[in-house]
Amino acid sequence: MARKTVKRWENHQITGIGRREARTAFYKDSQSRISLNGEWKFKYIDAPELSPEGFEKPGVGNEWDNIDVPSVWQLRGYDKMHYTDVLYPFPINPPYVPDENPTGIYKKIVNLDDQWVQKDTILKFHGVDSAFDVWVNGNYVGFSKVSRLPSEFDITEFVKSGENDVTVRVYKWSDGTYLEDQDMWWLSGIYRDVELINEEKNAVLDVQIDGSLDDSYTNGLFTSKIKMKQAGTNIKWKLSYKGEAVFEGEASFKDKEIYISADIPSVHTWTAETPELYDFTISTDTQEVTVRCGFRRIEIKDKNFCVNGQVILLNGVNHHDYNPKEGRTVTREQMEDDIRLMKQYNINAVRCSHYPANEYFYDLCDEYGLYVINEADLECHGFEWVENYTWITDDESWKNVYVDRSVRMVKRDRNHPSIIMWSMGNESAFGCNFRSAAQAIRELDDTRLIHYEGDFEAEVTDVYSTMYTRLKGLKEIAEYEVKGDKPHVMCEYGHAMGNGPGGLKAYQDMYRKYKRLQGGFLWEWYDHGIHTVEGDNEYYKYGGNYGDFPTNGNFCIDGILMPDRTPSPGMEEYKQIIAPIEITPIAGNIKKIKIENYYDFLNLSTVIINWEIKAENESVQKGIIDDLSVSPHDSCVLELPITPFEMLINTDYYLNVLVCQKEDRKYASSGHEIKKLQIPLNIRRDEFVVREKDDKLMINEVQGVLSITNKNVTAKFSTVYGKLISFGKGETEYITDGPRMNVYRATIDNDMYKKDDWMNKYFIQKPVEETEYVDFEEAEDKVIVKIGTFFSCYNQSWGFECVYVYEIYSCGQMKVEIQGRAVQRGKLEPPFLPRIGIVMKGNQNLQNTMWYGMGPGESYIDSNAASVMGIYESTIDEMMTNYVFPQENGHRENVKWFSIGDGENGLLCRMENKLGLNLANYTDESLEKAQHPFEIEKSNDVIIHLDYRHSGLGSNSCGEEQLEENKVKLQDFSMAFTFSIVKNGTEINEARKQYI
Ligand code: GAL
Ligand code: MG
Repeated sequence: MARKTVKRWENHQITGIGRREARTAFYKDSQSRISLNGEWKFKYIDAPELSPEGFEKPGVGNEWDNIDVPSVWQLRGYDKMHYTDVLYPFPINPPYVPDENPTGIYKKIVNLDDQWVQKDTILKFHGVDSAFDVWVNGNYVGFSKVSRLPSEFDITEFVKSGENDVTVRVYKWSDGTYLEDQDMWWLSGIYRDVELINEEKNAVLDVQIDGSLDDSYTNGLFTSKIKMKQAGTNIKWKLSYKGEAVFEGEASFKDKEIYISADIPSVHTWTAETPELYDFTISTDTQEVTVRCGFRRIEIKDKNFCVNGQVILLNGVNHHDYNPKEGRTVTREQMEDDIRLMKQYNINAVRCSHYPANEYFYDLCDEYGLYVINEADLECHGFEWVENYTWITDDESWKNVYVDRSVRMVKRDRNHPSIIMWSMGNESAFGCNFRSAAQAIRELDDTRLIHYEGDFEAEVTDVYSTMYTRLKGLKEIAEYEVKGDKPHVMCEYGHAMGNGPGGLKAYQDMYRKYKRLQGGFLWEWYDHGIHTVEGDNEYYKYGGNYGDFPTNGNFCIDGILMPDRTPSPGMEEYKQIIAPIEITPIAGNIKKIKIENYYDFLNLSTVIINWEIKAENESVQKGIIDDLSVSPHDSCVLELPITPFEMLINTDYYLNVLVCQKEDRKYASSGHEIKKLQIPLNIRRDEFVVREKDDKLMINEVQGVLSITNKNVTAKFSTVYGKLISFGKGETEYITDGPRMNVYRATIDNDMYKKDDWMNKYFIQKPVEETEYVDFEEAEDKVIVKIGTFFSCYNQSWGFECVYVYEIYSCGQMKVEIQGRAVQRGKLEPPFLPRIGIVMKGNQNLQNTMWYGMGPGESYIDSNAASVMGIYESTIDEMMTNYVFPQENGHRENVKWFSIGDGENGLLCRMENKLGLNLANYTDESLEKAQHPFEIEKSNDVIIHLDYRHSGLGSNSCGEEQLEENKVKLQDFSMAFTFSIVKNGTEINEARKQYI
């Protein structure tokens, strides 16, 4: 239905008015610039039509508010915050948008001097969301859209020496909004830099460079197209490497376009591992510009994509523009911090999801070395949910605006060697407009590959891209020619929402194994929480916290980097999984290790290996290997110069290996850790100790409480509830309740599709343990208490018959043995359980922790590559991982003993076999209930979980479930541990004692 009057911002036939053609962003340019960042006058109105009369004129608006540019106005107190993943917060009626269309009018006075106005004036907006009109000194200049691309206007004819009024009117909604339905906060305004360029009359307008390689991959093929503002300008050019010219020349051309080419022998090639850059400088009598470039060749060879002839593997991450206080406004420093962190974490590729980043971002990728998928600012995901996904994608009348988004991106960014693929957008189905976009990209630049996951058949793309493909599907893609034979890339996987992702190793193994699979990009870099301070509470908001509806809640909290830039355990895990070095023991010889090089270009001569034999926490022997040499994709066997050593009793030995960077790099200095791993040496000698006998234990039973005491111990049991209710010494209680059986964990985001069944069908959070019997008997030097229970949950026929055997010794130790037998008297049962274990409570004063097990960070069965066995010290609070959305956290796998102490004395708990451990100052219930960390209710006791098995994390919030072997099934179990009360500082020695 066409409307009588077409509003400019609802006209999808136009891509802009008066905007200059997109062009490269020079790395350096001698022309003067004035930044228009800073304070602007600002008027916020509910619809563009409500603009005050004459708002665009000079002298108006003195009484308006002030706003800082760049910023998004929703985080400056205007409009409202709203987060949706897929949904448009208005009816789908393209190209029309609601009448109520929040609008911001920005005004700034800019002073220009006489000298400035001799030359031309270009007004450049780096990013404005979503569409805007511009006036200068009351004159209409033009209109532009595409939020995440620059717009330049030549305003020479409108400016004068002295004060100039610049007015910008920004619309929150436009026809462009239909193409900007990315999964993120809806944010508006001038959110990237604004500047004025003082342009020469004969300026260099644009430079296009291609630095490729000949078939030997060693000689450079350089071509450049230079576009001048005026014909007949004399130019000089110089291509240099680290200041040294490798090719120079000069010319005067009749036309405005100049084409240069040269063969450059033996170039320093650019790869993400060797980011070698050249400077191409062009000078005229008035201007000098530099564009950086690199020599590298991207191509498909034998069904794989290659860089410089080498098949590469992408270990990538999806990156959005985000800042917890500024929304989508990010600083150069933050961008650089991001890139540095990525490099430090072994990431070699970044996908600009789902729009082009700031220009500067690509300079950093060139410099630091990251392969980039640059993606057009295009997503119309909401159409999928009305089951008309191709509505505008396959409608020719939208062709220009689709093509414009790719073309402007390519024209701006094509000189960056880091960009290896152009992506036409995200989640917008497939249709004629993508065919046109692909064609337009190829015409502009055929040296890179075309990507678009929504081209489900890989009809026009060069790579077959999928997202969140399960392992089974991925294997099929790898083994059969699914959707043709193009190389495959997983543009999103490993959804990092909340605690997780688990199971990344299985993906990496597949990528490494199968030729067709060339890696993937983890979803995603950041948790998009919005920093909030309310009274004493400092926390991060997510969807719904502003009363925004509909919303996808905490689906925007799905990054490996927490909002405050703390790397999450998932990020530590990813670093290890994708590390370019693999080390495996050679069976039967503790000195020999196999080293595999997963770099695509670097030799392992770039790393040093620090090895150390540890007796649990003590160093026994160590050494450094700094003369390694392994070619890319090759391996070697290394013999470590380990000499015989004396073994301590009852001690485990490990070979710990740290692979570190040999030399300083831009992102990390020498010694930076690339990979860590541990090889258990399994040489434990046991020596047994006989328990000392002490005073006889007194047994007393009053009113349902059975007490066993002497001067070393007080253990109390409830004969009614069939459980231990207190364990301690004298007046001091160490255990205040439990153990009780437990199968539940505070739901993690990756459990979201299990949660309803777990909690509303199997009621795993509603356990009941019924007492079958409580017996006790006296033996020599000990009292044995035996309790039989039946554990199940509300209205369930499955459960466990449990036997708890407590042996209380006169020396004060208490051994606990628990055996559970799974029973089923009906049919219904959970396909798997979060965990099988016990929970007990400890005295609140026992806040110091120590454990021998995996650490230092949290670990789960399918996410433990960043943990090694060791003895660690911490506090109960610090054992927590503070996820933005509270959920199960802080678990440590393979714990052999732990202690909790008050600084003087502690409770030591030694396991018979390794168990999983959680220590917390809150219960699972309070964790489940809280929506934000400050809402987690503190408990009166330390909550202690010991797990026989704890299910993996998986990535099922958007992706693969836990692998079958990492799911805890209803099964028989047994666990045993011994409590003793020890002096602070003696834990390690005490723990080494093995009693008969
Ligand atoms: C993908 C999408 C991303 C994000 C993710 C879920 O489908 O491309 O933008 O929404 O799912 O977090
Ligand atoms: Mg989407």
